[in-house]
Amino acid sequence: MKDKILEVRNLTTRFHMVNQEVTAVESLSFDLSAHEILAMIGESGSGKSVTNLSIMQLIDEPGKIDPDSQILFKDGDKFIDLNKLTEKEMERIRGDRISMIFQEPSASFNPLFRLGHQVGESLRLHGQSTKEEAYQEALKLLEQVHIPNSRMRAQDYPFQMSGGMLQRMMIAQALACHPDILIADEPTTALDVTTQAQILGLLKEKQKETGMSVIFITHDLALVEDFCDRIMILYAGSLMEEGAAKDVISSPMHPYTQDLLRSIPKPGMFKAQDKLFAIPGKVPDPGEKITGCPYAKRCSRCTAECLASKPQIAEKDGRKVRCFHAYS
Ligand SMILES: Nc1ncnc2c1ncn2[C@@H]1O[C@H](COP(=O)(O)OP(=O)(O)OP(=O)(O)O)[C@@H](O)[C@H]1O
Ligand code: SF4
Ligand SMILES: [Mg+2]
Repeated sequence: MKDKILEVRNLTTRFHMVNQEVTAVESLSFDLSAHEILAMIGESGSGKSVTNLSIMQLIDEPGKIDPDSQILFKDGDKFIDLNKLTEKEMERIRGDRISMIFQEPSASFNPLFRLGHQVGESLRLHGQSTKEEAYQEALKLLEQVHIPNSRMRAQDYPFQMSGGMLQRMMIAQALACHPDILIADEPTTALDVTTQAQILGLLKEKQKETGMSVIFITHDLALVEDFCDRIMILYAGSLMEEGAAKDVISSPMHPYTQDLLRSIPKPGMFKAQDKLFAIPGKVPDPGEKITGCPYAKRCSRCTAECLASKPQIAEKDGRKVRCFHAYS
């Protein structure tokens, strides 16, 4: 593997509610290399956002990251464990070294301030520039993310922007401090297909220009083949499969990955007799106690063995899979 920039080891994050405990992410381990685009994929509730909010140390009560979890981030020539930093130390990393485009735009922007001002303020927060310098820098960033009439649009408030334009603004804000890692949480979900393609193109362009690493979160496997280097498939807070994007798409080993791929519409489909495959059943309820494989209830290959215990991850030739009956 190329130079690693992030090593996550046994990440477990739970929410301790009055009436139940939800394990949102369980013993998750993965690496991110320098200049790599890693896709994190899974249905709603699989733990994608919580994993990345844990990396950012943005888990609030009643959530708690297990103190034994390690989030090792390369800082110069050594790794520091983000899970051991104080909030003050973490503020030096967050936004500056690791940026996140949040799933919810309202988490990134204050509705009461003009967008140019807000992008400028994030520059000022992490840099030494004056207000005017930061604003001019923000205008340059808006141009770089291809916002037409950027000088005028900088005067707009968030509600005046279309979904696609607001995503561009969020990318501009996230790029402001030249982060080593950009985490993009479902940045294209609410957008039409053409705008989705433009935003992915923009992210790729910026990744190439800056050399940053990207964690790209989506529930849409169809989006990522050409965009990402590597894919992680999550289900109910656990890793199910991981490998090079082209390998996972062309020869998926886990029944869940296979089912996700079967649910993608193919070109030329939608004649009267065509029926799109839908994965039967639903994801486990938060807080549900599962003894066997988390996917067992929906899996066509499920056997007694799968119900009795949770399969461990098997690793071979740069691929990982968690299944007793994986395809090979
Ligand atoms: N603040 C919270 N309090 C309680 N449970 C939470 C909280 N945030 C997340 N969870 C639970 O953690 C689990 C993982 O949630 P997460 O938001 O990471 O899913 P996701 O994969 O990002 O889903 P989506 O595609 O819908 O964004 C879910 O079961 C969710 O209900
Ligand atoms: S372990 Fe069993 S139930 Fe789980 S995915 Fe594999 S075959 Fe299906
Ligand atoms: Mg999410």
